[in-house]
Amino acid sequence: MSNTIPVKLVFSDGQTNTLQLEEGTSILTGARDRGLSLLVDCEQGNCGTCQAQVSHGMLEMEEFSPYVLSEAECANGVVLVCRAKATQPATIELPYCADDALAASDAGCAAVVERIEPVAEDTIALTLVTEGAVSFLPGQYVNITVPDGSFERSFSMANPPGSQRLEFYVALRPDGRFSHWLTSEARAGESVSLSAPRGTFYLRGDARPKVMVAGGTGLAPFLSMLAQLAQEERPEIRSAALTLFVGARHERQLFEIERIEQFKDRLPGLQIHVSCDEISPGSSHRRGRVTQLLEALSIDQSSSIYVCGPPPMVDAVRAILKDKQIPARQLYAEKFIG
Ligand SMILES: Cc1cc2nc3c(=O)[nH]c(=O)nc-3n(C[C@H](O)[C@H](O)[C@H](O)COP(=O)(O)OP(=O)(O)OC[C@H]3O[C@@H](n4cnc5c(N)ncnc54)[C@H](O)[C@@H]3O)c2cc1C
Ligand code: FES
Repeated sequence: MSNTIPVKLVFSDGQTNTLQLEEGTSILTGARDRGLSLLVDCEQGNCGTCQAQVSHGMLEMEEFSPYVLSEAECANGVVLVCRAKATQPATIELPYCADDALAASDAGCAAVVERIEPVAEDTIALTLVTEGAVSFLPGQYVNITVPDGSFERSFSMANPPGSQRLEFYVALRPDGRFSHWLTSEARAGESVSLSAPRGTFYLRGDARPKVMVAGGTGLAPFLSMLAQLAQEERPEIRSAALTLFVGARHERQLFEIERIEQFKDRLPGLQIHVSCDEISPGSSHRRGRVTQLLEALSIDQSSSIYVCGPPPMVDAVRAILKDKQIPARQLYAEKFIG
């Protein structure tokens, strides 16, 4: 009998599963063979959904997009589970509970375009309506397939769960296919297909202090999280300290700032800091990077840190937290350029 390699999976609720894998076996395949569906999406190393932390040992990685995982992250033991193979004993910390993995659904649905409206420079608000209410965890995303079925893109819900009306904020890219469809072809009343909600970047239901860092349309998932927190009935969760940093390349690209200010009525611990790389003369906004503000912040060591935005911003936040000795398992991150 050949020797197998133990790979221990540790879920965030403390549940563990040890896979005994032949050398070179993919972690995803090994887990599936044991009846465990780990949370994944593209399975190609392109979306970053399956990010996890190796706390002991090492895994070999197959090819992946450098946009979703940087060299520094790899050096710090961050892996994409869908691209990881067993070569020596290892422990992987997964940023979600075992139950969340079991509850993952593959069923998508149809939706009808209700609203397409510019809300800031190169930023469009898109509202889709589904037949029934869509349940998801605040912070998650869906893949939207355009009407002719030719391609799909991922977008994070900005509304709280449980509604038929899904709100998205889309950053337009000059040669982007989805950007072109949205600005030139999409019409109210048209049907698109949605995947089931996906992703491990979602609000955890604890009362820890929270720091949230949003870059560009990376604010979208935080709008969903803030709305969910504002509806929270447990006062220890609703009143916990919450510092939100909102960054944009130019202040003309800021959106929904008034809406997030209004959450302060329900969230007494909420502090908001807005900072843009470029501002207009006489602007009331701060010029600079949100990461500079984060660097200067004294962070409670027990805080959960949520960051969503361009890869360099997420990498910079990870480095700052390392300097501040905040454990990597307290960081939840999603990368996209928006
Ligand atoms: C989990 C997840 C959630 C997302 N949520 C949102 C959201 O809420 N709002 C939002 O605006 N966007 C979001 N995105 C990004 C979105 O899915 C699209 O990638 C984006 O809108 C560009 O699509 P496009 O078809 O217009 O451009 P594309 O046709 O895909 O690309 C346009 C140009 O960008 C280049 N490019 C493609 N990907 C990258 C990359 N990662 N880095 C640098 N250049 C690249 C291409 O080479 C091309 O030149 C999310 C992405 C992921 C993975
Ligand atoms: S599932 Fe997309 S990177 Fe692993």
